[in-house]
Amino acid sequence: MLEKDIERILVDQDEIIEISKRLGKQITEDYQNKKPLIIGLLNGCLPFLAELIKHIDLYCEYELMSVQSYHGGTKSVGNVKITKDLDISVENRHVIIAEDIVDTGRTINVVKDLLLYRGAASVEVVTLLDKPAGRVEPFIPKYIGVTIPKLFVVGFGLDYEGFYRNTPYVGILKESVYNKD
Ligand code: PRP
Ligand code: MN
Ligand code: MG
Repeated sequence: MLEKDIERILVDQDEIIEISKRLGKQITEDYQNKKPLIIGLLNGCLPFLAELIKHIDLYCEYELMSVQSYHGGTKSVGNVKITKDLDISVENRHVIIAEDIVDTGRTINVVKDLLLYRGAASVEVVTLLDKPAGRVEPFIPKYIGVTIPKLFVVGFGLDYEGFYRNTPYVGILKESVYNKD
């Protein structure tokens, strides 16, 4: 049903699992004895976070924060809001922020700076998708699943007006869905 709104699948379910295994293994190697704290940024992070953590073989914790910049549409409005903060301290913790996508770089810069300000020992980023062509602020995530061109994608956590987050793949949304003229 949802697939009728999808122009083309960009990253399918099997690829997402393979990517998560690769990144999970890399994180496992890099964070030996560090007991990392993985912080997922809701809402988009959820499916990727759930897949990724299965492949991290370490003592680690995960916590969630809600951060919004798009307010439902196809463009980031550049106003990053923390709508649900963490309940725990990040002081002296090795933090890994988990994201579905890094686009303009605004969300990730705001959150990274905040966590460092709060005393995190280190802050790195793992993202399923990286869209470097969308950057308005420089940012290079340490762990990247796939680099994608400047297209509006939905699925596996990524939404358009709140929908499509529940697909098992990432796809390009048909222009006719958001361009109503
Ligand atoms: C989306 C996405 C990232 C962020 C990336 O979240 O999930 O968190 O935007 O964009 P940026 O690099 O331009 O900041 P959104 O604000 O749409 O909230 P959501 O996760 O609840 O969909
Ligand atoms: Mn998000
Ligand atoms: Mg969104």
